[in-house]
Amino acid sequence: MKTQFIEIAENIKDLDPVAALRYFAAKFPGQIVFSTSFGWEDQVITDLIFKNDIPIKVFTLETGRLFPETYYVWNRTLEIYQKPIHAFFPQAESLQHMVNAKGPNSFYESVDNRKECCYIRKIEPLHRALNGNKLWVTGIRAEQSPNRHDMSNIEWDEQNQLIKFHPLFDWTFEEIKAYIAEHNIVYNTLHDKGFPSIGCAPCTRAVREGEDFRAGRWWWEDQSKKECGLHTTT
Ligand code: ADX
Ligand code: SF4
Repeated sequence: MKTQFIEIAENIKDLDPVAALRYFAAKFPGQIVFSTSFGWEDQVITDLIFKNDIPIKVFTLETGRLFPETYYVWNRTLEIYQKPIHAFFPQAESLQHMVNAKGPNSFYESVDNRKECCYIRKIEPLHRALNGNKLWVTGIRAEQSPNRHDMSNIEWDEQNQLIKFHPLFDWTFEEIKAYIAEHNIVYNTLHDKGFPSIGCAPCTRAVREGEDFRAGRWWWEDQSKKECGLHTTT
């Protein structure tokens, strides 16, 4: 797989997002997944996949701590497209153990506690969601952070041993918003209230004018530590 990577990256170089997603779906039938957090990038990708009937399994990591607005978008998306979105939940035993030992909001107390919570609620379920797949589609864009700016739209994920593809990697924030408006796509209304990046409710706040896209994520932590581990190389 890893050896095929360079050739595959070359083959999709000039394709638009839909053509590239179609190419991957044909190349890896039944082994391609898209992870959605129902943010606006993800809603655009969901629209591209569902409207064009591209055989890619869509999943979400249901951390149990999402915003009510996120659940609303999830539900509307099911109603509108009439296609499945598979939810992966944390393992009940380990979650119960953590909450009983440290309370429901242990993540504010230390980076280690925060990472433990992200591991239980997101990373371990992610491993189950990716298991057996060869390609993982995400809504990452270059503009989201300086780290992400240095990535490319396709990468080899050594940890998960698969290819990661970010179809909207080069899209600007304005292009995402224009697509959403033009196609009348359901989106998270928190985006209109100063939330460019939306994760779990207790760990996401609005950003101020001029602040970074991801400044509202784990805002109480040092900038350098602000990745939850879903995208370890980012
Ligand atoms: S995170 O690492 O900080 O949480 P971010 O919110 O920027 O990630 O989202 C980047 C991409 O990661 C999304 O486009 C989506 O593909 C995936 N992602 C993030 N959170 C989730 C989630 N809860 N469920 C499924 N995919 C997610
Ligand atoms: Fe837990 Fe916050 Fe990570 Fe969500 S973002 S899994 S609530 S620490």
